[in-house]
Amino acid sequence: MSSALSTASRNIARGAHRAARSSTSHPGYRISPTSAALHARNYASATADAAEAVHQNVITNRDPSENSKSAAFVREYEPYCLTTYARPGLVLSSGKGCYIWDIEGQKYLDFTAGIAVNALGHGNEELSTILYEQSLKMIHTSNLYYNEWTGPLCKLLVERTLATKGMQSASRVFVSNSGSEANEAALKFARKYGKLTPGGGEHKYEVVSFYNSFHGRTMGSLSATPNQKYQKPFAPMVPGFKYAKYNDIDGLDIITKDTCAVIIEPIQGEGGVYFATPEFITALRKKCDEVDAVLIFDEIQSGLGRSGYLWAHEAFPAEAQPDILTTAKALGNGIPIGAAMVSERIAQAIKIGDHGTTFGGNPLATRVAHYVVDKLSNPEFLDEVKHKAELFRSGLEQLKEKYSPVITEIRGTGLIWGVQLNREPNAIVDAARLRGLLVITAGNNTVRIVPPLIVKEAEILEGIEILDAAFASL
Ligand SMILES: Cc1ncc(COP(=O)(O)O)c(C=O)c1O
Repeated sequence: MSSALSTASRNIARGAHRAARSSTSHPGYRISPTSAALHARNYASATADAAEAVHQNVITNRDPSENSKSAAFVREYEPYCLTTYARPGLVLSSGKGCYIWDIEGQKYLDFTAGIAVNALGHGNEELSTILYEQSLKMIHTSNLYYNEWTGPLCKLLVERTLATKGMQSASRVFVSNSGSEANEAALKFARKYGKLTPGGGEHKYEVVSFYNSFHGRTMGSLSATPNQKYQKPFAPMVPGFKYAKYNDIDGLDIITKDTCAVIIEPIQGEGGVYFATPEFITALRKKCDEVDAVLIFDEIQSGLGRSGYLWAHEAFPAEAQPDILTTAKALGNGIPIGAAMVSERIAQAIKIGDHGTTFGGNPLATRVAHYVVDKLSNPEFLDEVKHKAELFRSGLEQLKEKYSPVITEIRGTGLIWGVQLNREPNAIVDAARLRGLLVITAGNNTVRIVPPLIVKEAEILEGIEILDAAFASL
């Protein structure tokens, strides 16, 4: 370990206590100073383990050259794929835990988790066994018939939610294939509710969402995503969508008796890891109650343990709860699935034939999701996530001190972190990748870190050291 890096590591332990108070997250998400100190001690022992994973400030991995197997692979197949993403030339091939390998045999520490999806990491053998067994038994039947797993998943989601301090009105679940489709369902349910509720009717169809949010790419979820980059090529948007400023209580006047739904992320993930304040969310809930608008919490990225709680909104005051909660991403650990959980009041507005899906809720995806929800809702597992958060907080705060003014702010909780830069972040993402760490960008000049939730302390340390080296190389 280079001396600069090992000094940084020791400082992380020392800084855990201080950083627990300084970085940006709302108070509900913060860990107590006592547990931060306790964790600093754990961190010190993790430092020893991680010494094995030495990362000098040298380039350990290469982006494939023109003559490589990867380049030949991309040249052969890329012409047939519609180009919707800019990506480096690596071709990923296998994974185990928090590590992945490309077809050249290069190893990467994965702090992207497939964009906050692989919460249980890669190559989870129990999950693979379940997948295999269920695929032999039955993959799909459609929703024309009951199957053995959709119902148990819906029951588990409701029961585990009711066991938290979160959505106490959780009652029924609609299972979809993705996050966008979960939001699409939520928006449709709210529109139907708006027509039927006393004082509602044809006029009550407006949806309010927030700047800097991300709700998906289908026309409804895109209409709720006020980002010109995503919306402009596909204009016009669905009628009735209005936008307000996140955390601006005065701006809530945009919500009126014509509003059927408000959709919000408790933590804006794609937007750069920003937190709704408890005051704002409480005021928002109150405003929705005043005008009888359905409040939708999009927990597609923030949910299922990512914040250290089963649902990020558990950290809000008890009165600030949603009528619909949407989830996806981690729900299948990579098997495509999403869900919209609704209160009984919303459920009553939805009748047979109102909404549907061919694949949504198939027994393969729902059996996997049942396993995943059971693991991710385990209180001990969630405590671990909270504790590991302090390693990130202290490590990233140390980097901020060291690389100011390039790093201007650290925002995060649990295992979702944003490192705010004063410049575009691709150079850091590239420098980290060349040193064997995958991270992603978000929002405006933010480096986003969303590792598998099973990440080990030594791996957190390793990742922070690589980031240190990446910043040092700028
Ligand atoms: C908060 C949020 N909502 C919705 C979506 C869309 O989910 P999907 O890509 O599964 O359609 C995402 C994806 O990044 C998200 O982060």
